[in-house]
Amino acid sequence: MRIAEFPTYAGHWTPIVASAALKAGKPLAEVFDGVPVVLFRDQEGVAHTLVDRCPHRSVKLSIGAVRTDGAIQCAFHGWAFGGDGAARSIPLNPDAKLAAVCAQPVATRERGGLIWLNGAADARDAPALVTPDTLEAPGWFGAIVVRDWACHWSRAIQTMLDVAHIPFVHPRSIGAAFGRALGQRGDVELAQDLEPTGGGGFRMTWNLVQRDGEPAGDAGWVAFHPPNGMSLGIPQRRAGRTSLLHIWCAPLTETTSRMIVVSRRNFGRYAVVPRLYDLLTPVILGEDRRNMVTAWPSEVPPLGEVSMPSDVSTIAFQKYYRAAFGGGHETAPPKGPPG
Ligand code: FES
Ligand SMILES: [Fe+2]
Repeated sequence: MRIAEFPTYAGHWTPIVASAALKAGKPLAEVFDGVPVVLFRDQEGVAHTLVDRCPHRSVKLSIGAVRTDGAIQCAFHGWAFGGDGAARSIPLNPDAKLAAVCAQPVATRERGGLIWLNGAADARDAPALVTPDTLEAPGWFGAIVVRDWACHWSRAIQTMLDVAHIPFVHPRSIGAAFGRALGQRGDVELAQDLEPTGGGGFRMTWNLVQRDGEPAGDAGWVAFHPPNGMSLGIPQRRAGRTSLLHIWCAPLTETTSRMIVVSRRNFGRYAVVPRLYDLLTPVILGEDRRNMVTAWPSEVPPLGEVSMPSDVSTIAFQKYYRAAFGGGHETAPPKGPPG
């Protein structure tokens, strides 16, 4: 039974919570794409999600309980529903046609320490979930940080994909080398090489260069995983070591997004220094908050933001966003600064 539509994420996957947040035997109320949902684990531990509304009298299922058979039981009249939404029992009505009564299931997967939702109209029709290899490949470690901020998810992911902000917003952490290069020479430019990876996604390497083409001290890469994910390389001096952050900006409501940051590295599982870096992740993330929550309009607008050649990745995101989610006309391609 259709109880609610997902206005934006019908057909799109996003992580919504860390797996650790969904405890056995306990319903978890969340909001996904503006729609209240309830997550719970069945008796085998498999995660399920239903629209958080009982089809009987519209009470939130999340105030109910998870039964030992893995069904969620409504707190009002005790109707119980499986993870597929099908009614399992309707007390006081032994002749009720259970097959005709259904809560609304939401496509749910658990992968890489995260629980993913897709707002497909029919949960069985959700497309395959594709995630970055390093999210769960053996030999990779890290930590998960989750923060809810008052901004639209498009603004959040656009900010995460932005390279030119790094020395200004993160001068004492990931932007230190970038900031030094910028401070020492006034003529550095951001050279960027963007490769489409399909479906609007891309991977972009960047490096600072002087006008004469000589390297100027910092380099890195970002990748966009549509609609709301990105990866960010963290430079390592030692060959063979890779460290990166995967970040998703999940749409809770029109005005609230959930930052889900997964740090991954292929070295130093128990070493102190890399683990200290994990502790820094929320600090670095927090440095971005001010820009995200003060931008207005919060949703990336169809027109009216000026871009420069240093904005290659955010321009590419805007193009994707406008094509995939609407929002007016394409802006003119960016022109270089005068002179
Ligand atoms: S409102 Fe849920 S069982 Fe009645
Ligand atoms: Fe940032």
